[in-house]
Amino acid sequence: MWYLCVFYHRLLEYRKAEFESLAGLFGVETSLEWSLPKEHHPDSPFHFVNLPSEDVAEQIANRSILVRGIYELWGEGQDFKELEEAIKNYPDDRKLPYLAPESTFRITIDSFGKVISSQEKRDRLQMLAFIPFKGRVNLKNPDHKFNLMDNDYYGSSNGLPAIAKRRIFFGREIGVADRKILQTYELKSRKYLGPTAMDAEMAFLMANQAQVKPGKLVFDPFVGTGSILIAAAHFGAMTMGADIDIRVVRDGRGPECNVWSNFKQYGLPAPISLLRADNNLPPWRPGLREVFDAIICDPPYGVRAGGRKSGGRKLLKGIIGPYTVPDDKRTDHIPSTASYSLVECVHDLLDTAARMLVMGGRLVYFYPVLREDDYTNPTFPEHPCFKFVTSCEQILSYRYSRVLLTMVKIAPYSEEIELAAKIKHLDFKENHLKWLEDGNLHSAVFRPADANIHGDDKSSSKPKYRGKYV
Ligand SMILES: C[S@@+](CC[C@H](N)C(=O)[O-])C[C@H]1O[C@@H](n2cnc3c(N)ncnc32)[C@H](O)[C@@H]1O
Repeated sequence: MWYLCVFYHRLLEYRKAEFESLAGLFGVETSLEWSLPKEHHPDSPFHFVNLPSEDVAEQIANRSILVRGIYELWGEGQDFKELEEAIKNYPDDRKLPYLAPESTFRITIDSFGKVISSQEKRDRLQMLAFIPFKGRVNLKNPDHKFNLMDNDYYGSSNGLPAIAKRRIFFGREIGVADRKILQTYELKSRKYLGPTAMDAEMAFLMANQAQVKPGKLVFDPFVGTGSILIAAAHFGAMTMGADIDIRVVRDGRGPECNVWSNFKQYGLPAPISLLRADNNLPPWRPGLREVFDAIICDPPYGVRAGGRKSGGRKLLKGIIGPYTVPDDKRTDHIPSTASYSLVECVHDLLDTAARMLVMGGRLVYFYPVLREDDYTNPTFPEHPCFKFVTSCEQILSYRYSRVLLTMVKIAPYSEEIELAAKIKHLDFKENHLKWLEDGNLHSAVFRPADANIHGDDKSSSKPKYRGKYV
């Protein structure tokens, strides 16, 4: 059956991707059919989607972060006359159970892109007087919720996509996102934070892309302050993290301000373990095999914080032999590290994920993209064990974006695959070396503005419609 899905107007590329991942999580095996209301822009909050049941629609809406609501559409039109006709034509057997005398109901009036006055709301409510509601109104806790929504932003320049015609929708609410969790987990009230802590909204979206659910084992190999695992634990997963920085995984800022205390703060089960491990030389290579259901991470890609790998510079250049920590320095020794380019980091991440994810397990990670050259058609790292699921861009500045990549494991790891992956990686490295190599991305992102390239007056050329910037 077709449902009306209304999205929040933010993180536009993440909206359908999240919806589809959740559909998969709740058992929908085929790809979803989508369509747009008449004359609506693909970035519109309103979409139609075909789902196998109301139960699935409710589960998706309630679990999502970007779905404002899913509705059984009773009617739509370009004005109230057309809307009334459509609602009257909607089959009685679908409407009457929700209009019964013993039930309670509420109608919410929403206008997208415009604030409407209470008087205007009352006027619009009057337009629905023809619907034979027999039950009582209950604003707080009704049995049935209805929504009258329209897009009042047509032709305007308020940051929403311009469309030619207004459309009014009336439907029965099936489910809405629980965005209250974003307040509960917002970073500003978290005890232990680092400079690159993942914001709560994005951490939950990443967990949804990874199809996290109770009983699953989720690993973050760049755990930092644990923000991504916190979202996974909220959805019931068992978690494990690793970081090269022993001060992060062991100490934090003291006994009551560390990764462990972050989990305690929200009453979440603590991670199974937090390891001091280097993504470049993880202790599980080659021993451990397929144990994780999902690997979710934000690798250090060198814009705000760069990656490090084990071994001092001298050691890496082969100048001295393996380094042994003297006995008297063992308790608080911090191993020296050298810089770790993004291209190596991504190769190692894909290798770890290919070895350690179960079949069907998901790898979800951020990857940076420089918004120049072949920006419109960026290529992403590949691996023979993985099928690409989706990429979702978030523009961070006019220079660069981060793209959330979702991949699913479709082939078991083997020696042949390891070799094939190395060849693929070398090929990728050759074509992307320019900015994936150490330091290049950082200098490209932070180089002084060039007026000739980007236009002399950025403010006047700024488009009114902000598209993917939201
Ligand atoms: C972008 S931060 C991740 C932040 C984390 N998502 C959070 O919410 O706090 C990247 C982390 O990777 C760690 N790191 C850098 N190089 C590493 C390596 N070779 N192996 C494992 N961790 C590494 C850094 O210490 C840092 O904590």
